[in-house]
Amino acid sequence: MDAATKKWNGEMKEAARNLAVRSDKKTPAKVYLGLPGSGCKCVREALKQGTIDADTFVVAVERDPATADLIETQLNGLVKDYHLHRDVVNTLDLKEVLQGRKIDFAFLDLCGSLDMKLAHWMYGLKDVFTTDAVVAYTYSIQGRSNKFLSAVVKDINGLVYYPNYDFDTRSKIEMATKSVKKIVKKQLHRTARFIYDSNNKYRFATIAAAWALMSNNHNVEITRCEEYCDTTPMVMVKFQLSEKKDNLSSRRAWIFLEVVSYGTLYETSRKKEKKAKVNKLAPWQQLGCPVDMPRTEKAWVVIRAKQGQRPEWMKPADWAWHPINPNGNRRKSA
Ligand SMILES: C[S@@+](CC[C@H](N)C(=O)[O-])C[C@H]1O[C@@H](n2cnc3c(N)ncnc32)[C@H](O)[C@@H]1O
Repeated sequence: MDAATKKWNGEMKEAARNLAVRSDKKTPAKVYLGLPGSGCKCVREALKQGTIDADTFVVAVERDPATADLIETQLNGLVKDYHLHRDVVNTLDLKEVLQGRKIDFAFLDLCGSLDMKLAHWMYGLKDVFTTDAVVAYTYSIQGRSNKFLSAVVKDINGLVYYPNYDFDTRSKIEMATKSVKKIVKKQLHRTARFIYDSNNKYRFATIAAAWALMSNNHNVEITRCEEYCDTTPMVMVKFQLSEKKDNLSSRRAWIFLEVVSYGTLYETSRKKEKKAKVNKLAPWQQLGCPVDMPRTEKAWVVIRAKQGQRPEWMKPADWAWHPINPNGNRRKSA
């Protein structure tokens, strides 16, 4: 819907979609990640433009069950192979879905504001894209009740004073923020087409945060940025990924993000990595049995642990939330 006329603005959305799924590559993408919505319009447009073809593996995401049913019916007729994730995008474990494949084109038509949950998901996107992947997002650029975006707005405009940090750290933060601002502005200068109020502080904050989140694991360049109106003003940002070389700008992006997320981005992705590593191990390894322990003893440790008995070498604090501890799991689900 157009904010001014309160009418659905299909034309503007269509133009943004066409740009988002346009590819300069000669061959269709092998893996496409998208949020097709009830009409699967982005998938149809990508097929029409040759960005994907019927052999492309489509990873579709939809949180609304009725819409997911519609997507499933249509995808069956559009492509040969797909995976439909029926939940919010930040619960999608791409590595598990891809099984070694990599995404070379993505259009995450979220039309929502960039919040902390989404930021965590984007920050953790590692080894899922090809080195030359194209990734486009659409975001709503109104963020009043969004803690993450409000923090980005404050930080990027130099409105935060960090009394708990020493002078050196404060200078580093300031430098990182200035650098992110400069890089993003420079990239936007060549590519952006803005149509609304130039003082919209959430627009720049959203784009800068998205760029910084993608820069955590990739070298990224904004190749297109288009503003349009749906129910509220939206922005479509398209990134071109390339081989990671620029460590300085990604380090600065990292400092900038960690500050606005109160350090939770790094902590969460580290915990996730640790958990994924532990889950791949055999139960006796997860419980830390010595390698040279006889097999029968290892088996007993596992049996007892599954009954809730802590291995004697494990600290109570580690045991409390250990995945094998049934009491810990019960507490978690309660
Ligand atoms: C704007 S529509 C997609 C339109 C489609 N891509 C097109 O080109 O016309 C966004 C769809 O994604 C779903 N969606 C939005 N945010 C989501 C999220 N965070 N997780 C999962 N689904 C989401 C919505 O329910 C909606 O069906």
